[in-house]
Amino acid sequence: MSGKIGRNDPCWCGSGKKYKKCHEAFDEKLEQLRQKGFPVISHDLIKTPQQVQRIKESCKINIAILDYVAEHIGPGVSTEEINRWVHEQTVKHGGIPAPLGYDGFPKSVCTSINEVVCHGIPSEEEVLKEGDIINVDVSTIYQGYFSDSSRMFCIGKVSPEKEKLVQVVKECVEIGVSKVKPWTPIGNMGHAVHEHALENGYTVVQQIGGHGIGLEFHEDPWVSYVSSDNSGVLMVPGMMFTIEPMVNMGSDEIYTDENDGWTVRTADGKPSAQWEVTVLVTEDGCEVICY
Ligand code: MF3
Ligand code: CO
Repeated sequence: MSGKIGRNDPCWCGSGKKYKKCHEAFDEKLEQLRQKGFPVISHDLIKTPQQVQRIKESCKINIAILDYVAEHIGPGVSTEEINRWVHEQTVKHGGIPAPLGYDGFPKSVCTSINEVVCHGIPSEEEVLKEGDIINVDVSTIYQGYFSDSSRMFCIGKVSPEKEKLVQVVKECVEIGVSKVKPWTPIGNMGHAVHEHALENGYTVVQQIGGHGIGLEFHEDPWVSYVSSDNSGVLMVPGMMFTIEPMVNMGSDEIYTDENDGWTVRTADGKPSAQWEVTVLVTEDGCEVICY
C-alpha cells in the first residue's frame, strides 16, 4: 500500500490529510519491522478511523443485547428463551445475529452451561437452575460490520469453586487487556492470560482461540491464550481482536459433540468458563470496544 500512494495524496485512512502528514511514518515503521522478520498482519486488517466508528456502532448493539440478557436471565429460563431475546433485541437495533447460519450454526447465540466450553446450542429443553454457570456469547452484524463479546452469568447461588472460576477468568481477560500495547507481540498477552489461570490451578483450552474481527466475523490473526512471550504478530494501532480465553477447572482436554457437531465440552466433565471482549489497539495501549 505504501508504495502506491503519493506523499501528497490523501492518506488511505480517510483522514483527508496528506499521506506524508498522516500514516506515512506508520507504514514505514510497519514495513521495516516486517523486513526485519517481525510477523505483522496484512495492511487491509488495520482499521481506518471510519471503519472503527462503524464497528463501534455494531459493538454498541452487542453490548446492549448482553445488558438485556443480564437483566432477564435467572433460574427457570431456557436457553431457547435467551436465543429469542438475543434475536429480538438484535433485530430491534437493526442488526443481524452473526452466529445464525454461520457454518450452519442453527441459532442466534451460543449458550454454554457448566462443563460446556463453548458453542452450546440453545434449546427449549435446557432450563437454567440454581447453581449453574453459563456463558452467553453474542455476535452482531450491523451494516456489514461485526462485533463479538460474551459474558458469564451465575444462576442464583453457585458453589464457591464455580464462583472463583468465573472470577478468575474475568481477571485473566483484564490482565490480557493490560498487555495490549502497540508494537509488542500478541503472544505476551496470551502468555499473561495463561499464567494467571495456571496460578489459580486452572488450565486454558489450547485448540480454540480468539480472532481478529470487524470487517469479517473471524479475521487474522488467530489468537492463542497459551502463547509464549515474544511470539506472534505485533499488535499495531488500528488492529482489532478478541480476548476470549476458555478456562477449565480440571484438564484442558475437550471434545466436540458428535451428534450436533458444535457443542464443545470438557473431557473430564468439570466446569469451564469464558469471558470475551474485543479490543482496538491504540497509539498508547488499547480500548475495549465490546464487552
Ligand atoms: N464468539 C464465538 C466465536 O468467535 C461465536 C461463535 S458463533 C458460531 O467463535 F456460530 F460459530 F458458533
Ligand atoms: Co469470538
